Amino acid sequence: MLAGEKIIIAVDGPAASGKGTLARKLAVHFNLALLDTGKLYRAVGWNVLSAGGNPENENAALEAAQKIAKADLTNPELRSESIGAAASKVASMPAIRQVLVDFQRHFAANPPGDKFGTILDGRDIGTVICPEATVKLFVTADVKTRAKRRFIEEFGEKGTEEQYISILNDLKTRDERDINRSASPLKQAENAYLIDTSDSDIEAVFEAAVKLVSSKT
Ligand code: C5P
Repeated sequence: MLAGEKIIIAVDGPAASGKGTLARKLAVHFNLALLDTGKLYRAVGWNVLSAGGNPENENAALEAAQKIAKADLTNPELRSESIGAAASKVASMPAIRQVLVDFQRHFAANPPGDKFGTILDGRDIGTVICPEATVKLFVTADVKTRAKRRFIEEFGEKGTEEQYISILNDLKTRDERDINRSASPLKQAENAYLIDTSDSDIEAVFEAAVKLVSSKT
C-alpha cells in the first residue's frame, strides 16, 4: 500500500465466531477506528420492536433504518440473542441494507481522530461494503462452540440446558437466514483469510491476525 494511505480491515463471519473480540483487539493494536456493523442492524431491529412493531414489516424497518444515528449504537440492550434475531430479519431486506451502506462506507473512508485507518466487522464488509479493503479476514467456528460462547455471555454459569438449546437453535436459524438471503449474504470474500476459532484461544487468533495484517501494511 502507498505511504500515507489509510488502511481498511474487513472482518466478516457468523455470530459469536470471535470476530468482534478480534476486531476490538486489532483496532487497539493498529490504532484503528472500529465499527461493529452488526449494531446498525441490531439498532434497527431494536427500534422497531421497542415501538411495538414487527421486524418483518419492511415499512416499519425502513422508517427505523432511516433514523439510525451513531448514538443508537451504544444502547446496551442491543447485545441479546433476541435482538440478534430481529437484526437478521431486517438485514435480509435489500432496502434496509441500502440505507446502511452509506453510513458504513463513510465511516471506512473517514477514520475519526488521528486513527491510522478503520476496521469494520460484519457479514458483507469484504464482499460488498469495502471490496477494496487492505486486509480481509473471515472468522468462523463450529456452531456448537459459538452457541456455548453466547450462552455463557448471556446466562453465565447459571444457564439451563433449555436456554443453551434455544441459543443453539437461534444461531442456526440466523446463520441460515444470513447465508441464504439474496441481498449481500454472509460469505467469505475470495481474497479473505479464513480463521477458524473453534479450537484456538483468542490470544493465538490475535497473534496470527497481527502477523497477517502486518504483512499487508
Ligand atoms: O454481528 P451481529 O451478530 O451483531 O449481527 C446481527 C445480525 O445483523 C446478523 O445476524 C446479520 O443478519 C446482520 N448483519 C448483516 N450484515 C452486517 C452485520 C450484521 O447482515 N454487516
